[in-house]
Amino acid sequence: MTSIDDSPVRDPDTLRADMVRALRDQDAITSDSVAAAFAAVPRHKFAPEASLEVVYDLHRIVPVKKDESGLNVSVMSAAHLQGVMLEQADIAPGMKVLEIGSGGVNAAYLQELVGSDGEVTTVDIDRDIVDRARLCLDEAGYWQVKTVLADGETGVPSGAPYDRIIVTAAAWDIPPSWIDGLTEKGRLVVPLTVCGTTRSISFDRDGTGLLSHSYRLAHFVPMQGEGAAEERKVMLREGVVVQTDDVRVPLNAQALNQALDTPGLVNWSGAAWDLPDELDLYLTLNLPRAVRLHAAKDVIERGLVTPAVQFGVPALVSEDSIAYRTRRENEDTGGFESGVIAHGPQAEHLAHQYAELLRRWAQHHRRRGAATFRYLPGPAPSPLPQGAVLRRHGIVTASWA
Ligand SMILES: C[S@@+](CC[C@H](N)C(=O)[O-])C[C@H]1O[C@@H](n2cnc3c(N)ncnc32)[C@H](O)[C@@H]1O
Repeated sequence: MTSIDDSPVRDPDTLRADMVRALRDQDAITSDSVAAAFAAVPRHKFAPEASLEVVYDLHRIVPVKKDESGLNVSVMSAAHLQGVMLEQADIAPGMKVLEIGSGGVNAAYLQELVGSDGEVTTVDIDRDIVDRARLCLDEAGYWQVKTVLADGETGVPSGAPYDRIIVTAAAWDIPPSWIDGLTEKGRLVVPLTVCGTTRSISFDRDGTGLLSHSYRLAHFVPMQGEGAAEERKVMLREGVVVQTDDVRVPLNAQALNQALDTPGLVNWSGAAWDLPDELDLYLTLNLPRAVRLHAAKDVIERGLVTPAVQFGVPALVSEDSIAYRTRRENEDTGGFESGVIAHGPQAEHLAHQYAELLRRWAQHHRRRGAATFRYLPGPAPSPLPQGAVLRRHGIVTASWA
């Protein structure tokens, strides 16, 4: 028996045109130049192993390489995120651009944007990825793009200074080579991770440091090599994990686990809960001892912690107590009201501190893009400014307008 597939045949050109239209509709692409680059590059030639539907899906990644435990170490990033970051980069013809983290397709978009007078270099730490990117770039006709095998932590000094540096792996710090490798008016677009949450930040040079211009929520595979994240992750009990990248935060697993066995104290803030990613960022950078609390689905189902925790929430810890946010439907606040659940001997104190921040955010900062980031290279000032994040090569600060 033969079966007849009557679904319409989707050719790559049609799928690509649909993708560009949808990216524009969703404001991932806002300029004609980025739209033209996405329309020109045959994206499917950079992921021949994947189906056309996946390659041209706005939000899906294509896994390229995994580590021994099955985690992705290299993927073709989703078109939506690539569009957003290329818009953040604001690339003009003739520019010299460095991409850190290769794959091929994003470098091809960059080559379209800089044109024949510009230069694109893409560097990756993994030989397999560089070889694959080279093959795909040649196959698609982007032989001008330079591919380099190196740890991006040191940049590619031979081609510096660059008008733009775009990092496509989640960075924990900003090494001197990225700042020094920019022209005076250069821009760095980097997915920066703080305490388990990442934003693609576009930074312009500001004296010896960097000042942010825009930021967007992003998810990336982590940076490997010299610049890999310094993080502590502890399991409080099966299915409950807390993580932090701040050396000053106490992480006493036994005491925090005991705290979870004490009844939760709930403190409702009276403030509206919305724009979860913006609230998340505010809490992460303003809680005095922030960690990220994750819980597995079965732990949530057993009622030990609330569903808010499923994808990780910013939590406030002390030596023996922990507080994290929750929400409930409330018509008075419109939609949801934010609140906090705290466990342990200092539950009341932590809940109060946390709820104060929830109210402050709702009253003064409840909008998209309210934060401004700075990166100040060099030794950290003492004492560290409130909310500053300590890194190996400098500090990150965030302020809310
Ligand atoms: C999300 S993939 C890059 C996607 C790619 N830009 C594209 O066109 O879709 C991230 C890449 O960063 C690379 N990477 C991780 N750490 C690196 C480092 N220190 N230096 C250079 N590349 C690195 C990984 O090997 C991986 O290939």
